[in-house]
Amino acid sequence: MLRIASYPEDSAARMRAEAKARLEHPGYALTGYFYRSAVVYQTDLEQILYRSWLYAGHTSQIPEPGDFFQYEVDEDAFIVTRGEDGVVRALVNSCRHRGARVCEEASGTRKTFVCPYHGWVYGTDGSLRGARHMDRQGAFCPGDSGLKQLRVFIRHGLIFINADPDAGDFSLALDRIDPALAPYELENAKIAHRQVYRVDANWKLALENYLECYHCATSHRSYARSHSIKEIAPNVEVLRAALWERSQRMTGVEGVTRTFDGCYDAEAVFGTSVWNNRYALFDGFQSASQDGKPVAPLMGQFRGFDGGAGDFQIGPLSFMLNYPDHCVLYRFTPRGLTATDIEVVWFVRSDAVEGRDYDLQTLTWLWDVTTQEDEYIITRNSAGVNSRFYEPGPLQPDFEYIEIRFIKWYLEILAGSTAP
Ligand code: FES
Ligand SMILES: [Fe+2]
Repeated sequence: MLRIASYPEDSAARMRAEAKARLEHPGYALTGYFYRSAVVYQTDLEQILYRSWLYAGHTSQIPEPGDFFQYEVDEDAFIVTRGEDGVVRALVNSCRHRGARVCEEASGTRKTFVCPYHGWVYGTDGSLRGARHMDRQGAFCPGDSGLKQLRVFIRHGLIFINADPDAGDFSLALDRIDPALAPYELENAKIAHRQVYRVDANWKLALENYLECYHCATSHRSYARSHSIKEIAPNVEVLRAALWERSQRMTGVEGVTRTFDGCYDAEAVFGTSVWNNRYALFDGFQSASQDGKPVAPLMGQFRGFDGGAGDFQIGPLSFMLNYPDHCVLYRFTPRGLTATDIEVVWFVRSDAVEGRDYDLQTLTWLWDVTTQEDEYIITRNSAGVNSRFYEPGPLQPDFEYIEIRFIKWYLEILAGSTAP
């Protein structure tokens, strides 16, 4: 059973003090307080989540006017629509009368959203189209009563949203990883499969697990057979150098080995953390498959397999693992103090046909197995850090360096939080 611990004396002042105290221990994990405190969780949402660029979905999910899908974060829901004018918008799924949700389906096609409570009617652009008898309320202005909207930014068909009207431009960060990302031509890709793994753990435990491969050798047998980053860098230096030598030649992609590191504490604009790198698969592996063979037709500009995988961070809470023949996106979404949705999305090129060009089970095998293994270790981690006797240990500097950077970035935000 899931228990949510509470701290009777919790406050923003205590949170800031705890964050400042932890900053005195660089290279160590967070204390249990940061995973258990409701004050911390609300601050996470306000100061980080809703000020960051979040991956919401892909344009292929809403090709026609009226198409929509929903993205749920914590207790909020956003309807990502394509309006009659073709514009993609992110609407807050909460009626401007008394707040009821105006849409229940996860996705679909609509001309309007009609609130089930008192029947207010909204267009797919969010504008209020009808409100029964509200003309009798003197101050009511229909033009000011459309569904609230978040900012939207689209790159290569990937739709990002941001709740902060003053958020910095995402394109500056994305430009840095574009030489390596653009050649996959995700704007011409389709979603072969999506799966949500609900994990009973605070979002930071799920994210931190993604940020390190110290656990890969012990927790991911299948992954560790094919992916060389389960090894400490000096052990695979020869493999990496060989990959670098052949990558451009074998893929035909000029920017394939261009790398960039702007993640967390090095991000240029808040909420736009990005990195990209390429690492080697072990000899005999062309893709993330059980037998090492390709699983789908080559993506975008790729003309061959180099035995490498592109590793990307695209915003603070989303990532991609891109092989020449398919791309896998990871998104971490808080759904409560101790609940997180990990969504995994498998992309293939848009003209690939299931059954002919790819087999869904073969395509999804590795990252489905690996995510289930992660689900297990993340929940075990959650159970352990919730013990009153838990004391953070030192992090391993070669494997857990991104986590070290995340923790520093995170604690500095909390330490400087102006929450009352
Ligand atoms: S709450 Fe939507 S119409 Fe009243
Ligand atoms: Fe993992």
